[in-house]
Amino acid sequence: MVWSAGTPFNDLPPLPPRGLDLEPKVVLKATVEARTALATLAQAGQLLPNPNVLIHAVPILEAQASSEIENIVTTADELFKHVDTGEGDHATKEALRYRSALFAGVESIRSRPLTARTAAAICSELQGREMDVRAVPGTRIANPTTREVVYAPPEGAGLIREKLADWERFVHAQDDLDPLVRMSVAHYQFEAIHPFHDGNGRTGRVINILMLIEAGLLHDPILYLSRGIIARKNDYYRLLRAVTAEVAWIEWILYMLEVVEESASSTTRKIGAIKACQDDIAERARVATPGGRDAQFLNVLFEQPYCRIGTVVERCEVSRQTASSWLHALVEAGLLREVKIGRELLFVNHEFLEVLARSE
Ligand SMILES: Nc1ncnc2c1ncn2[C@@H]1O[C@H](COP(=O)(O)OP(=O)(O)OP(=O)(O)O)[C@@H](O)[C@H]1O
Ligand SMILES: [Mg+2]
Repeated sequence: MVWSAGTPFNDLPPLPPRGLDLEPKVVLKATVEARTALATLAQAGQLLPNPNVLIHAVPILEAQASSEIENIVTTADELFKHVDTGEGDHATKEALRYRSALFAGVESIRSRPLTARTAAAICSELQGREMDVRAVPGTRIANPTTREVVYAPPEGAGLIREKLADWERFVHAQDDLDPLVRMSVAHYQFEAIHPFHDGNGRTGRVINILMLIEAGLLHDPILYLSRGIIARKNDYYRLLRAVTAEVAWIEWILYMLEVVEESASSTTRKIGAIKACQDDIAERARVATPGGRDAQFLNVLFEQPYCRIGTVVERCEVSRQTASSWLHALVEAGLLREVKIGRELLFVNHEFLEVLARSE
């Protein structure tokens, strides 16, 4: 196999890599640690009175981190503010599209297996337009700082489709490879195929979460995986390239397993912090307003850090006046802040927002 950075890598080998044990002892040890951390996360999720809290919040944080790898920088605050409308500045809209793509992907794999078509659907959702495999040659991956070309993906729509078909077979192969190792290997391959003109990194990172769900290691997309990647972004780029240049599969797999372990642990810590914040606010809300004894009202306050009167009306089945008085009582008590966005009145649960936005 001859490889050079500037030449399209049409000889990208199929999976699994030949003649290589993907699961030496160090890898097996790391899979045990990562799986333990995932199991702890699943248990921690059940500690929350309302599991929707995580399903609402974590994918937004994941969207923010994953988009930031592509230098689409927005804040958690902006994202939560605009989540119901999909508005906001360009970066906010793009990160919200990542979240939609993640949700669309999860919904899709609930009814059919993850395939190359799923990948195209995810990428289309991300990009806000129909995406198909690259037909035009010339795509190059450059080092974001030096601009030096580090990799040229395979070219030709037919060849790309063949490689995706092989990737797909590997994703669902009936062998005894650990699902986390499979996810790691498939992620490299997907990025090396680089099937689309743009959005391959983000599509690949959505697929990671989907593979964990398909494998039964995660039930909902509540793993904040891209934060672990962005924290070690240089390693991410360096190790992807080292698989191509030096067949350094084991280093790559170990890196991915560490990222899973770290992000599962940090998501677990975040759940602990959310729970503490939730208990504290529930207690203070009980004193401040009759609404504080309404379980649905407390749920609404923690599903999104920005809350609308209309949502309280709908969910708690109370009049607009009651909803408004409950919310304003919490403003009086310092638990919420009133903010106006355009013509809309929102109530921000700032303590909860702070817990969500900080790194654990
Ligand atoms: N040497 C490499 N070999 C294979 N894939 C690589 C290499 N370097 C980077 N990549 C992948 O390419 C992705 C960037 O491709 P692309 O711009 O299509 O995706 P994106 O989603 O728009 O960007 P980003 O991943 O930066 O958010 C990186 O995230 C990484 O996953
Ligand atoms: Mg890009």
